[in-house]
This record gives sequence, C-alpha cells and structure tokens, in this order.
Amino acid sequence: MNKKTIRDVDWNGKRALVRVDFNVPLNDALEVTDDTRIRAALPTIQYLLDHGASVVLMSHLGRPKKKVVDTLRMTPVAKRLQELLDRPVKTIGTTVGDAAEQAAQALQPGDVLLLENTRFDPREEANDETMSRQLAELGDVYVNDAFGAAHRAHASTEGVARFMPAVAGLLLERELAVLGAALDNPERPFVTIIGGAKISDKIGVIENLLGKVDALLIGGGMANTFLLAQNKGVGDSLVEADSVAEARRLLDQAQGRGVDLVLPSDVVVADAFSAEANTQIVSVDDVPDGWRILDIGPETRQTFAQVIGGAKTVIWNGPMGVFELEPFAAGTRAVAKALADSSATTIIGGGDSVAAIEQMGLADKMSHISTGGGASLELLEGKVLPGVAALNPR
Ligand code: 3PG
Repeated sequence: MNKKTIRDVDWNGKRALVRVDFNVPLNDALEVTDDTRIRAALPTIQYLLDHGASVVLMSHLGRPKKKVVDTLRMTPVAKRLQELLDRPVKTIGTTVGDAAEQAAQALQPGDVLLLENTRFDPREEANDETMSRQLAELGDVYVNDAFGAAHRAHASTEGVARFMPAVAGLLLERELAVLGAALDNPERPFVTIIGGAKISDKIGVIENLLGKVDALLIGGGMANTFLLAQNKGVGDSLVEADSVAEARRLLDQAQGRGVDLVLPSDVVVADAFSAEANTQIVSVDDVPDGWRILDIGPETRQTFAQVIGGAKTVIWNGPMGVFELEPFAAGTRAVAKALADSSATTIIGGGDSVAAIEQMGLADKMSHISTGGGASLELLEGKVLPGVAALNPR
C-alpha cells in the first residue's frame, strides 16, 4: 500500500484519533450480539497503546438519520471493548465540541476514550468541514482503521484527514492488502462467486471482474435477469427488466474475453415467497409459470463446487438463494462448504455471505473474511475508497 500506516509514526505521548467501524448488531437489551468488528480493531488499538499513545476512538453505529437516537449510543460498544481490552474505556455523550476536547486533552498515555456515534451529528454524512476541523482538535494524528466505512466520504472517514497527519490502521492495511493482491496478482485459476438479489447493484463489479477472473459463478436473485437475457422463462421470479440489456452485454463480454461465466442450470422454485411454500427442483429451461426461483439446484451446486475445487484464488460475495429461509439455504451452504474444503486462498467479501459462513461455523476455514460489505464490493468494482485516498502517501 502506498499510504503511511501507524508503523510510520512515533506515538510516544501522542493522542491518536482513530476511526473504527464499530457498526455492530445490538439486541433489544442493547447488548452487542456480534463483536467481530470490535475484535478486528484490537490489533491497531493495542499497537497504539503499547507504543505510548492515548487513543480517542470514533465510529458510527447504525443509521440514526442525523439525530440522536438513544438506542444507537456507543455505550454498549464501549462495554464490550472494555472487556476485550481489559482496561477502562471512557465514553462521553458527545462527538465534538468543548466537552469532547476537554475529555481528549485529559487523556494520559494508555487511556482510551470512545466518542459518541458520529452520525448523531448531521454534519458527519455531509462531510462538513467545520465538523472535520472539530474532530481534528481531538488528536495529534488521525488513524483510519474503519475499512467497513472507507467507501463513505464522511467527516470522520475522509474530511478530518485534511486537517491533520493521517495514516492507515492495521485492519485497513490488511483488508486492502488481501483484496488488492487477489485482484491484481491472483494465483490462478481465479474464480469469483457473485450472488445476492440485484444485478443492478453489481454490474460494475461484474464488469471489472470480467477483466481479471478465469471463471465467474453467478447465483442468487441476480442470476434470474441473466437467465431472462438468455430468453429463458423465469415464471414469477424477481427480475430487473431494466437490466436485461446489461446482462446480455455482460454475457457477450464474458464470451469475448474467454471468461467462463457460469449460470445456474437447475433451480429450486417455490409457489410463494415463504418457508411453507411448495417447492420443486427444475431445469432452468422448465421454470413453471407462477413459480419463482429461490435457490440454485443440486446440479448447479455440484458444478459450482467443482469449479471452486479447481481454483487457487476464490472471492465470494452474496448468497446463492434466500438462505434466511431454510428450504432455500442449501445453495449458499454448498458454496460455503466448497470454500471450506478448498485449499485455495478464499476471501469472503462481507455481508450475507459472512453470516452464512459464520452460521455454519466455517469462519476459521477461510483465508480472509472481510469486515466490509459495501467497501469490499467497491474494491471489487475497481473503485478507490475515499477513506483510503485521503491518507498520507508514503
Ligand atoms: C457497514 O456496515 O457496511 C458499514 O459500517 C457502513 O455502514 P453504512 O452502509 O450505514 O454506511
């Protein structure tokens, strides 16, 4: 990476202002139900503390829509972080301003302060300069370790970096290194599996990947639009009629580039979008009228597993079916299992695919599980993340 990192800074006696992605799920009792993202930030926090810094942390939590939402305060996150770090984590009910400045200034080396949810301030998402300057008052050096939010150009992820020295944290560095190496210099065969409901969200991703991969496996709702582009009947399945022409263009592109673009050959169809629906397995040439495709079928699962089995690098983003409903989970599970059984470098790009891997207890079988859903998709699309672009060059 051509950006400075926390290893390039003498931290002794300095205050590190660290943007983390502590956007974690909470239950009704406001307890953190999955602390993966908090754990992922620990190496950076620990490094800073071990090197004589005090640490001011900031993050968004949920989408409070520019106002204070009591159920989205950072206190439960601080509690979990405190347990994991085994040292006190102070919180204040504010993000910037006098109270935040006083709290930050009072910190001694080894102290940790977690600011309030950055998105309570309407200026955060507007990437407002006055908020960026106020944040910059809270530390000597800015550290961005929030890979999951690095695709957002907000005051705490991008704006603030203009007003103080700005370096990458260890998580951000690792995420970029792993995804960057896979995309730029993969061990081949390089296979990607793309799923999820909508093709329109992923046209840019597919387009970019077609220039890089040897095979592209497509499942999930988005495969329906490709099937339609091949003039197959898809019954009542979810399709994006506006994207059929794009799908056709991508199929042609894949052929022109010699990329093996593999679509489902059989599917699980249901007569309603429900776990109680009647289901059957049919060829993609025989989807009955009035039925909808909700998962890939057994033959497709086998084909996908075979392609994955022959790969040396695999990136997976997006489920193969409606895996939150048990009758339509087998396709996503089969892909997860094929990845777990493979000796390739396996990278899981955030979101629902991570949830599936974790539900199956296969997380430790993967080479890398990204902490960023949207951010990793933008990298797959070949975009530069604003939170990374803003950091100081090496
Ligand atoms: C995420 O959960 O993907 C990140 O924390 C970004 O959240 P956002 O989509 O609300 O910006």
